Amino acid sequence: MSPNPPTPRYHPVSRIFHWAVALGVAVMIPVGILMTSGSVEGIQDELYILHKGLGTILLVLVAARLAWRLFHSPPPMPESMPPGQRRTARFVHGTLYALLVVMTTSGYVRTVGDGFPIELLDALGLPYLLPEMPDVAAWMVLVHKGSAYLLAALVAAHVGAVVHAQLFAGHGVFRRMWPPVGGGGQKGEG
Ligand code: HEM
Repeated sequence: MSPNPPTPRYHPVSRIFHWAVALGVAVMIPVGILMTSGSVEGIQDELYILHKGLGTILLVLVAARLAWRLFHSPPPMPESMPPGQRRTARFVHGTLYALLVVMTTSGYVRTVGDGFPIELLDALGLPYLLPEMPDVAAWMVLVHKGSAYLLAALVAAHVGAVVHAQLFAGHGVFRRMWPPVGGGGQKGEG
């Protein structure tokens, strides 16, 4: 009898993108909430500088990840997963991508559009890509805040679904995205 075929993994590049963005978001949400809470006066400026700099790195990373994803489809989901769950997972993944784009661009437009600096870009001598536009920036405050809470809720749902599929339903999905580096992967898949 032949052993079960190994679970197909995401491409190594896709896994690096996934965990780098996950780590970035895990830092950005609490830092964003802390710096706007008014409860950390001594280090508020440092938190803003960290948030804007890391956020700008994430903006580039999310754009690169999307470009990569366009040309690299993910490996098929386990056949043991019911079709409804597969559809829901695809919808959640698509919405997470969309929210990452909205979060990073709204943060950038809110900052640059209001004439605030991004210290990391200044340090690297890189230009800002937008003119000042305070009206648009004011809207972006709302968009950024609203989508931050949506993103946090969806990340929680995503993690919960993976834990459930892995531990209780036995679909073995975690290994598709783990480890972040190395461990082989499907050539030509994303
Ligand atoms: C995935 C990326 C990002 C996440 C998860 C994120 C998350 C957050 C969160 C949770 C808040 C607090 C919202 C509130 O309760 O008011 C916030 C505020 C803020 N973020 Fe981001 N952010 C991201 C990207 C960016 C980027 C790229 C920039 C700028 C380059 C930026 C600039 C700001 C600024 C200026 C505020 C304060 C908004 C205000 O005026 O109230 N963020 N962010």
